[in-house]
Amino acid sequence: MLDPKAARELAVRLRSAGYTYDEVAERLGQQGLDGLARNSTIAADRALEGADDPQATLIRAFALQQQVSEKALTHALGEPNRLAPILDGGKDRVRAAIELRPYAFETNSATHSGWLASDLTPTLDGRLAPPREDFVLGLSSASVTLAKMTMRSPRTSALDLGTGCGIQSLHLATHCDYVVATDLNPRACALTTLTANLSNVELTVLQGSLYEPVADRRFDLIVTNPPYVMAPPHASRLVYREGSHSSDGLVRTVVTNALAQLTPGGALQVLGNWAITADQPWQERLAGWIEPTGCDALVLQREQLDPYEYIEIWLADAGLTGTVEYASRYAEWMDYFDAIGIIGVGMGWIALYNNGSFDPVLRFDDWPHQVHSGLGAAFAEFPAAAHAAREPDADLLAATWRCDPVVSSEALGRPGAEDPEHLVLRRRVGFGRAVEVDTALAAVIGACDGELPLGVLIGAVAVLLEVEQDGLAADLLPRLRPLIEDGYLHREDR
Ligand SMILES: C[S@@+](CC[C@H](N)C(=O)[O-])C[C@H]1O[C@@H](n2cnc3c(N)ncnc32)[C@H](O)[C@@H]1O
Repeated sequence: MLDPKAARELAVRLRSAGYTYDEVAERLGQQGLDGLARNSTIAADRALEGADDPQATLIRAFALQQQVSEKALTHALGEPNRLAPILDGGKDRVRAAIELRPYAFETNSATHSGWLASDLTPTLDGRLAPPREDFVLGLSSASVTLAKMTMRSPRTSALDLGTGCGIQSLHLATHCDYVVATDLNPRACALTTLTANLSNVELTVLQGSLYEPVADRRFDLIVTNPPYVMAPPHASRLVYREGSHSSDGLVRTVVTNALAQLTPGGALQVLGNWAITADQPWQERLAGWIEPTGCDALVLQREQLDPYEYIEIWLADAGLTGTVEYASRYAEWMDYFDAIGIIGVGMGWIALYNNGSFDPVLRFDDWPHQVHSGLGAAFAEFPAAAHAAREPDADLLAATWRCDPVVSSEALGRPGAEDPEHLVLRRRVGFGRAVEVDTALAAVIGACDGELPLGVLIGAVAVLLEVEQDGLAADLLPRLRPLIEDGYLHREDR
C-alpha cells in the first residue's frame, strides 16, 4: 500500500486540505452525511455545488468514488506518483482505488481523529457490484456496535481479531498499552497498517487465521466481529463475512479457544451469529461452548432471523439481488441450512471473563430492547455484580447498598386512576434494563442510600407496611438479587 513515511505525509496533506471528520461533516451537512450512511452520494455531491477546491476534490475522490482531475488532486495532495498504490490513474482523470474515510470518536479524556482505509463500497448509489473475494470492509453498523460494547478500562494488551480496516484497533489504542491486529486476509492487514499510519497509532499487524498468529501470547482484552455469516461452502467465498467452518463453527472456535489467549482477569468480546436448531435452545448451544472454558459469561441475543430473511440480507450484501444467479444461490443456501438443521439464526453479543471463578456465572438473555450509551461499562460491571448477587442472605442483609443514580421509576396506569397499575424501575444506560416492582421492593430500593444495612432498611419498611420483618426479607431477597446483578444497587462497604 503506502510506506509509513508516505502515509504520514498523506495524513498531513489530508488534514491541511480540510479532509477531516469535523470539516467534512460541516461541508456536507447532515443530509450529505446521512446519504453516505445509506450508500447514496447524491446529497453530498449537491452539497459540494460543483466545487473543485482541495477539500471538495478529496471528498469526491475518497468518499464519493468520483473521477477527479489529476491537476486538482495534485493541488490537494502534491505529486500523485507517490500515491500510485491508492489511485487508479487515467490520462488526466484519476479515481481512488480505496476509500479513505475521515473518522473521529470521543473518549473521556479526548477526541481522536484519523482515517479508515478500506476497499471502495461496492454498492454505492444502488450499484450491483459483487465485491472482490478479498474485499476489506470499511465502517459498518457491526463495527460501530462492537466499538460501543467494548469495555474501555485501561489494559496492558489487546487483540483485534479479524481487524478488517483496523477500526477496532484505533479505539483499543486509546486505552491499551499495546494492540495486536490480526487478519486472515493480507489485504486487510495492509489496509489496517495504512489506517494506523495515517491515524498516528502504534499497532502490531499480523496475518493469519484466528488465534494462530498469536498462539503463544495472552491478552487482557480480545475483541472481534469475525466473519460469522453461515453460508454454504461455495467457490467464491467472501473472506470479510464467511469463514470455511460449517454452520457457526467459526464463532464457536473463537469462543472455545479463547481461554488459552486470555490473561487472568482478561476478557473476550464477540459480536456474532449462532445457529438456531430444532433440537436445542440457543442458550444450551452456547453454554456448551462456554462452560468448558470456566469463564464467567454474559450473552445477549439481540435478534433471531428466519432463514429466508437471513439469506436475503446476505445475498443482497454480495450484490446478487436481481442477477441470474440469485435463485440458484438462494436455493443452494436453503438446502445447506436444511441439511445441517438450521431453522433460524441468532445474532448477538458474547462476553467471556477469565476470572478464575470457583463457580462461574453464565447468563443468557434474549434482549431485543433498545440499548443506551455505556454499553462497555455495562459489560464491565456484570461479573462482579453477578457474583455479589449470589452471596448468602446474611451477607446481603448485612451489607449497605446504594441505588444507582440513573435508576428512575415510572408509574403506569389509567389517566386519573388513584394508584398506578404498574411500577417500573428503569436504568437508561447500558442495556436499558427495566423491572416491574411492588411498593415494598420500590421502598427498599429507594431507601438504599449507602448509609444503613439492607436488613435495617427492610425492617423499617416492614414496620411501615405493618408486616413481619423476616417474612418481608424472605419475599424481597430473591427479587433483590437480580436487581443487584443488573446494577440497580451497588455495594457500598467493599
Ligand atoms: C466482519 S469483518 C470485521 C472487520 C472489523 N473488525 C470491523 O469491526 O469492522 C471480519 C474480518 O475477519 C477477517 N477474517 C476472515 N476469516 C478470518 C480468520 N480465519 N482469521 C482471522 N480473520 C479472519 C476478514 O478478513 C475480515 O476482515
